Amino acid sequence: MSGARYRVEVMHGVNLDQLGRRDPLLYGTLTLAELERRIEDDGSELGLDTRFFQTNHEGAFVERLHALAGEANAILLNPGSWTHYAWAIHDALEIAALPALEIHLSDVQAREPWRRVSVIADLCFATISGRGPDGYRDALALLRERLDRGEE
Ligand code: DQA
Repeated sequence: MSGARYRVEVMHGVNLDQLGRRDPLLYGTLTLAELERRIEDDGSELGLDTRFFQTNHEGAFVERLHALAGEANAILLNPGSWTHYAWAIHDALEIAALPALEIHLSDVQAREPWRRVSVIADLCFATISGRGPDGYRDALALLRERLDRGEE
């Protein structure tokens, strides 16, 4: 690991502000604020400065992606159910043109068939799903490695 610090935009989409009220068997018991605190601490240990964004409005998510050029080195995103059908988010992620990692708290491959589809997977260098909050730490470690390699 080099000594460089990188900026990672952590983006949570629709309904993720409701963590803590959602099915704990699928999503755990942490609130979004608690999850983000963990992500911030884990990121800091890895030399990653994390910044957080959550919205329930698809257009706002798209516009945040538009604004990321020059502001972030990489994106960690959990778009919630938008993952499965929101092609506008696919296109905005393509415009952002940053290394991106897709993450889900629950194991989307083991749930309803419609959740097995991801419209952003082809733009992400890795997908982590079903590891709960710990998955975010794994994701940050992968992002760190990816940024140190400096690939496109
Ligand atoms: C989710 C999985 C999605 O299918 C679901 O719509 C969510 C959360 C997850 O983190 O497991 O809202 O992205």
